[in-house]
Amino acid sequence: MGEELNDLALVWGHIVAFLDSAVLKWVLDLGIADIIQRRGGPTTLSQLSSSLPVPARNSDNLRRLMRYLVHLRLLSSQGEDLYWLTSATKFILSGEAKSLVPFARLTQQGDYNNCLELGPLLEEKGSKSTFEALNGEDMWSYAAKHAEFNKLFNEAMASDARIVMPALIDGCRDIFQGITSMVDIGGGTGTASRAIAKAFPHIKCSVLDLPHVIETIPNYPEVEQVAGDMFSFVPHNDAVMMTKILHDWDDEDCVKILKRCKEAIPEKGGKVVIVDIVMDIEEGHSITHTRYAFDVIMMIYTGGKERSEEEWRKLLSSAGFSRCEITVINALQSAIVGYG
Ligand SMILES: C[S@@+](CC[C@H](N)C(=O)[O-])C[C@H]1O[C@@H](n2cnc3c(N)ncnc32)[C@H](O)[C@@H]1O
Repeated sequence: MGEELNDLALVWGHIVAFLDSAVLKWVLDLGIADIIQRRGGPTTLSQLSSSLPVPARNSDNLRRLMRYLVHLRLLSSQGEDLYWLTSATKFILSGEAKSLVPFARLTQQGDYNNCLELGPLLEEKGSKSTFEALNGEDMWSYAAKHAEFNKLFNEAMASDARIVMPALIDGCRDIFQGITSMVDIGGGTGTASRAIAKAFPHIKCSVLDLPHVIETIPNYPEVEQVAGDMFSFVPHNDAVMMTKILHDWDDEDCVKILKRCKEAIPEKGGKVVIVDIVMDIEEGHSITHTRYAFDVIMMIYTGGKERSEEEWRKLLSSAGFSRCEITVINALQSAIVGYG
């Protein structure tokens, strides 16, 4: 029975997994973690209850919800009915530098969820993803026409960039030492390029993205902003950076983008710095599940994919890069550097 119970637990776990996303949304909507953080110390059930934006139907419901959150390790309990944060809670606090709340919010709204109803196999003539089949255009054209989605999407990407960039800078300082200029293509609202400009003031940084994204960026003096299409133009720089870009595209499009990058960097000393998931790195780590999940997410939303170490090397070599170095960093993504 032991083994069968494990199998049963595995399947039940997946059946009830829908609840975990719902519970996370309730926690954010009710501001539960924020309330506890604001109080600055362990919080009792009645203190929490009196700070909620809506009254709890009864204290037993709230207690059971809190017990589930403690079970999920999103919060901890100290004694009976006394709750505090865990080391993971910082990622779901709205005001924290490493907050993933904007990313969670993106996945919790209609434009994203409608695709899940339809699944990965929906095909419309010429469409590359479920998102495109459903909306008649890819996510970037859609974002250009829907200001609210554009804002949510850009904020979500920036929230992840705020986590990844310190990991990249700490783990790969050498990459940035020998260069004097760098453009971050598909760089969104400039979070990544600003982090590089701050950490390496000797590098002249710029960010290139589509006009509807660049238009929304305040004028940061440390980063030049360029509105453009990376398939047709990548400005000349010592290095080109791409964070969470190539996973949006199929191999053919990736090679097109990488060839543009290669033309933009010097033959000697030029490099392309890619920050993306490497599927088979550190297999078995608890983050591996999210890496596999993102591969399916890319299939649905963009028609891209996450790649193995071998697939990254092949891609860079197809675009004419002579050498590829892959470094594990303290993040979901890894650093993949292609040398001209
Ligand atoms: C997944 S987001 C990544 C944003 C940012 N690099 C980050 O890591 O947070 C992909 C970005 O590519 C941009 N993009 C899509 N097609 C593009 C194109 N043809 N030229 C330039 N940017 C493009 C999107 O507007 C979006 O900002």
